[in-house]
Amino acid sequence: MDKHAPNEMTNSHLLVRNFDYLEASTIGEALYWLEQYDGRARLLAGGTDLIVLMKMERLNPGAIINITKIPGLNEIKVNPNGSVEIGPLVTIHTLAMHPHIRVNFPGLAAACLSFGSTQIETMGTIGGNLCNGSPAADTAPVLLTLGAELTLASRQGKRTLSLEAFFLSPGKTDLKPTEMLVGITLPAPEPGSTSVFLKASRVVADLAKASLAIAFTRQGERITGCKVAMGSVAPTPILLPNVAETLNGQIFSQDLLADAGKLVAETISPIDDVRSSAWYRRRIANVLLQDAMNQAWPLALNPKPASVAAPQANGHHHLPLTKALGTDHLTEVELTVNGCKTKVWVAANELLLNVLREKLELTGTKYACGIGECSACTVQIDGKPMLSCLVLAISAAGKEITTVEGLQDPKTGELDPLQEAFIENTAFQCGYCTPGILMTAKALLNETPDPDEGQVRHYLRGNNCRCTGYASIVRAVLSCADHQE
Ligand SMILES: Cc1cc2nc3c(=O)[nH]c(=O)nc-3n(C[C@H](O)[C@H](O)[C@H](O)COP(=O)(O)OP(=O)(O)OC[C@H]3O[C@@H](n4cnc5c(N)ncnc54)[C@H](O)[C@@H]3O)c2cc1C
Ligand code: FES
Ligand code: FES
Repeated sequence: MDKHAPNEMTNSHLLVRNFDYLEASTIGEALYWLEQYDGRARLLAGGTDLIVLMKMERLNPGAIINITKIPGLNEIKVNPNGSVEIGPLVTIHTLAMHPHIRVNFPGLAAACLSFGSTQIETMGTIGGNLCNGSPAADTAPVLLTLGAELTLASRQGKRTLSLEAFFLSPGKTDLKPTEMLVGITLPAPEPGSTSVFLKASRVVADLAKASLAIAFTRQGERITGCKVAMGSVAPTPILLPNVAETLNGQIFSQDLLADAGKLVAETISPIDDVRSSAWYRRRIANVLLQDAMNQAWPLALNPKPASVAAPQANGHHHLPLTKALGTDHLTEVELTVNGCKTKVWVAANELLLNVLREKLELTGTKYACGIGECSACTVQIDGKPMLSCLVLAISAAGKEITTVEGLQDPKTGELDPLQEAFIENTAFQCGYCTPGILMTAKALLNETPDPDEGQVRHYLRGNNCRCTGYASIVRAVLSCADHQE
């Protein structure tokens, strides 16, 4: 079979190339398949980079190996000495919300909260963010300043590597085609240390024009152990050791920050691209350095509270290995959709969105951009808001999926209070974006039953509406805050 012949699908937003789909239930299995495909396979974590690249036909792997069902890789472990081990499948949202990370590595939590949308945070993983090798990866600068170390596994054994040595050029890392990232280790933070991450982007839900992270220890009025790193200003995320040297051992002052800011602008090598100009990137880099340091300085004064680590429960359940060799092969998967178990035959390249709309006739879920940028296709998978245009239907086997049709009471047909609130507040016009917004807002209310306006706006930041003002949507969600059980 010609692996590279386009199939019959005509919609360019579908996955048109042929590939094999495999599910690994252990690291060993994933490594075995990587070796078997000899550099032609890619690992699938959240899929928010991989599926987009495949849709755009910028990447055409011969096989994708789903690693999300391998137990234990989505855990955060805090060691007695204060160092932290982060599994590669820990999602950006989990990191952003994790109490130990928020207190001890606030820059990392801030970087995670700056991601394009809640859905991308919920689907995207830290491992995928690093292995994608983008100079704009938001977790990279702060992990560089924190001295993160990676553990890479292959069938030949394991090796550890500093994150600094991992990034080689745009989209290229030191990860070999037969290797998998299996862990990220952060050394214990010093007492009096802190970290900050700042990002400048065109709109809040976008990749960085420039980002900057700083980590240091405050000793009285002196800055020590300082590290500075930036994203989107060079071919890879970079540490700026000369800037750190200027700050290290110095008494904190605005003059010092002004000098360091100038040095940052002189040191980086930004380019002009769709997001920004090199000129602007240099200007904003100077400002980001000064703002980050001013923000971090008072934070570092407070000694760290004792560890409040709450390692995440392992939500994986073991499923038998699934294989779909080629996209002509149909596999029967069982999905639980709106509380009903249903079996459906799918090809490896079918997306959950299409299966819901075309095979299950649940057309409430909408298709718009097809590449993760509008959130019109949001459904809940195991209670979390996710983009059905970026989820392979085959990978959703065994999951609980809720679509907008599942919001109303199945017995009485009564609308959910949130739907009623949208009607009462005229929170839609054409209604195209509304199912996605309802599913996202419902997830917020389940997670945070009494959100304030800022939380509602932040959670919904990735849901684009082209015709209603957001004010009525926010009003509708807030009016429901007290109605949650
Ligand atoms: C609309 C949109 C907005 C976005 N906004 C942001 C943003 O604001 N900031 C940002 O930094 N990124 C952003 N991204 C990019 C993306 O969401 C992140 O990089 C995310 O963390 C990728 O994780 P993932 O699990 O989805 O990776 P995947 O897409 O599953 O994988 C990415 C790459 O890493 C490889 N890989 C994954 N896990 C491993 C592993 N354990 N070992 C070896 N290789 C592995 C895959 O094979 C693939 O090549 C955005 C993407 C979209 C579509
Ligand atoms: S994000 Fe899925 S259709 Fe736009
Ligand atoms: S109501 Fe029309 S796009 Fe949002």
